[in-house]
Amino acid sequence: MTLFRGTFLDTPDNPFTGGSLRVATDAGLLVQDGVIVARGPFAEIRAAHPAEHIVDLTGGLVLPGFVDTHVHFPQIRAVGGMGMPLLEWLDKYALPEEARMADAAYASSVADEFVRGLAAAGTTSALVFGAHYAAAVDTLFAAASRVGLRITSGLVVSDRIIRDDLLTTPQRAYDESVALASRWHGVGRNRYAVTPRFSLSCTDELLASCQTVLEEIPGALFTSHLNENEAEIATVAELFAGSDYVSTYERHGLVDDRSVFAHNVHPTDVELKLLAENGATVAHCPTSNAVLGSGLFPLGRHLDHGVRVALGSDVGAGTGFSLLKEGLQAYFCQQLLGDHGHPLSSAHLLHLATAAGAEALGLSDVGDLSVGKRFDAQLLRPAEGSPLAVGIEHAADAEDTLARVFTLGTPADIRAVWIDGQLLDDSSGKV
Ligand code: GUN
Ligand code: ZN
Repeated sequence: MTLFRGTFLDTPDNPFTGGSLRVATDAGLLVQDGVIVARGPFAEIRAAHPAEHIVDLTGGLVLPGFVDTHVHFPQIRAVGGMGMPLLEWLDKYALPEEARMADAAYASSVADEFVRGLAAAGTTSALVFGAHYAAAVDTLFAAASRVGLRITSGLVVSDRIIRDDLLTTPQRAYDESVALASRWHGVGRNRYAVTPRFSLSCTDELLASCQTVLEEIPGALFTSHLNENEAEIATVAELFAGSDYVSTYERHGLVDDRSVFAHNVHPTDVELKLLAENGATVAHCPTSNAVLGSGLFPLGRHLDHGVRVALGSDVGAGTGFSLLKEGLQAYFCQQLLGDHGHPLSSAHLLHLATAAGAEALGLSDVGDLSVGKRFDAQLLRPAEGSPLAVGIEHAADAEDTLARVFTLGTPADIRAVWIDGQLLDDSSGKV
């Protein structure tokens, strides 16, 4: 057993429904086989367990590991595209890079960069948009397994409109998806996600084959894009005879509590109702929405309808792996909506970046640092004298401290990351 000593912040009680930030100063968390078995004031836990090895994290802040509910592994080398709306950005910037994943050796080096980038940002679990090539998806699962991340991912499938070398057929999509799932689903911390790119690039036949795969893999998730950009939405309506965007998935049984849809910037009330009734989650990707000019996310309308919301970095349209930055941008977005915005506190941001993501991904044993949860955590400790260190020193209380963390924190401030109580280790020496 290991006894972690430090200051722990988390949100086991949802701040969107009346809960607040939980603060444990000079606390002890006792971890056995990766699971938190006791927590309380350090002196008390120590007295009850005098012989256990202590990991002293005082002087920093310990947060639950972040849960990124939407991030594209083949796009890490395509972060930074400016001046293009979604469909142009896909054509000119993102998809040429995704086509390079046909070369498995190239994909493998990208996968290594990707998993290290996630871990260095304090992300311990992620729902990852894979690649259009099965061998490239193998390299992602292999890289995640080496680092130890909790990854849910799958083959991205499309059979129309986008560039030819990324297209498949319903039968091939089925065969390759099932084969990938048999290699990786439930192996270590890996799980499979059925992943049509977006209904714009998928025929009904392909979406039907996605449904078959989902039915055949117990415990698999479903993920795709939804209502991101107005030109995209108009094209989807044309392609599906005037249907709304959610229904293009729903008619194939692809909208339920295993489903995570990225963006949903421009939903109708009917669509929000359908998402809520079916228990689906929306991955809010605020930096991406700003970069591509997709729009300001109507968080209040999602909450009013009871739609579950979590956070996604959406690299490569998003601007990096840090869910601190996404949290801050989510806050900006609601501020910019004025009277239509939903005011967010730092506790809301932490909840979106941790417990809400864990819930979206069906990971009931991570997301906060309660007894019975797995110790997936990150240590944040800014360099002495840095603006963040100064800010924390002068914060009024824990919620204010956390607000400064979201405002000023970067991956450089994340000093260590644990999954299942194990310290992640990589060649950078940081995590
Ligand atoms: N819609 C379809 N594909 C993508 C993608 O790669 N990124 C974003 N932001 N939206 C998409
Ligand atoms: Zn995306």
